[in-house]
Amino acid sequence: MKVLNIGSCNIDYIYEVNHMVRPGETQTVQNLQVVSGGKGLNQSIALAKAGVDVYHAGLIGKDGTLLKETLERYDVKTDYVHEVEGPSGHAIIQIDANGENSILVYPGANHLFDEQKIDGLFTHFEAGDLLLLQNEINEMPLIVNKAYEKGFKIAINPAPFNDQIKQIPLHLVDYLILNEIEGQDLTKETDDFKVLEKLKTMYPKTHLLLTRGSKGVLYAHEDVMIEQSAYKVEVVDTTAAGDTFIGYFISGLVRDLSMDDILKLASLASSITVTRKGSSTSIPTLEEVLKKQAKEKSEIGK
Ligand code: RIB
Repeated sequence: MKVLNIGSCNIDYIYEVNHMVRPGETQTVQNLQVVSGGKGLNQSIALAKAGVDVYHAGLIGKDGTLLKETLERYDVKTDYVHEVEGPSGHAIIQIDANGENSILVYPGANHLFDEQKIDGLFTHFEAGDLLLLQNEINEMPLIVNKAYEKGFKIAINPAPFNDQIKQIPLHLVDYLILNEIEGQDLTKETDDFKVLEKLKTMYPKTHLLLTRGSKGVLYAHEDVMIEQSAYKVEVVDTTAAGDTFIGYFISGLVRDLSMDDILKLASLASSITVTRKGSSTSIPTLEEVLKKQAKEKSEIGK
């Protein structure tokens, strides 16, 4: 089974702020990091760091050399990362003193997908391959319909939540991975368990994952429901924590682990990400995750 991630590549401008900038306020910022990011790129890097062979398909501008080089540095396959006219996508990220973030995304090249590019890409893959998607590229409804026809297993992280989500045939998706806010937007429920119940009625065949920050993650599929708590850590920056979770979650599927083990692995990985500043730069390697897992086990044994 090949893993294809069609997703965004953004140049992330990360600013450390005292507080999120308010309407009408100008704030002088002392610390700026410029790194490769985008939910798509981050998830491909998380997959690669977790030891999975992943093909990233993405569009970048002439200014996007760093993005392709970053993917290649982590051994993500970039045969389907293409340069197009216009600027790459970028994100302006504020990180406040509590490690919370606030993100503005300009799609740029990420919104230049079209039917011809998608058809060309799909000819390199076959039924049973896994397609991972987020919601930072255009043509998502078309991609999901075509991927379903082709027989891909489809995993979607519908983030960021916007009007395009309502056009995506989510009932065709095998794995839907979303956070509390996205779950609330989709179901109009506020309680996490009610969100999950409603999602089950909306998408009865889909494996559902609701990530809940410090409250952990809920998984539901048919009669199975698993609640995985979050590992307690000191949070420095939550950026890319969700992307890390998703990359490691898919790696567990590829390695055919049990759902319990997959949720533990993905939660451990994202608990490391939040202790570090940065986006793609803060995603841990499998070795780091396994080391932390061994430490957790030995502490439980004490
Ligand atoms: O999930 C984090 C990512 O969201 C950042 O890297 C930024 O580019 C935005 O897409």
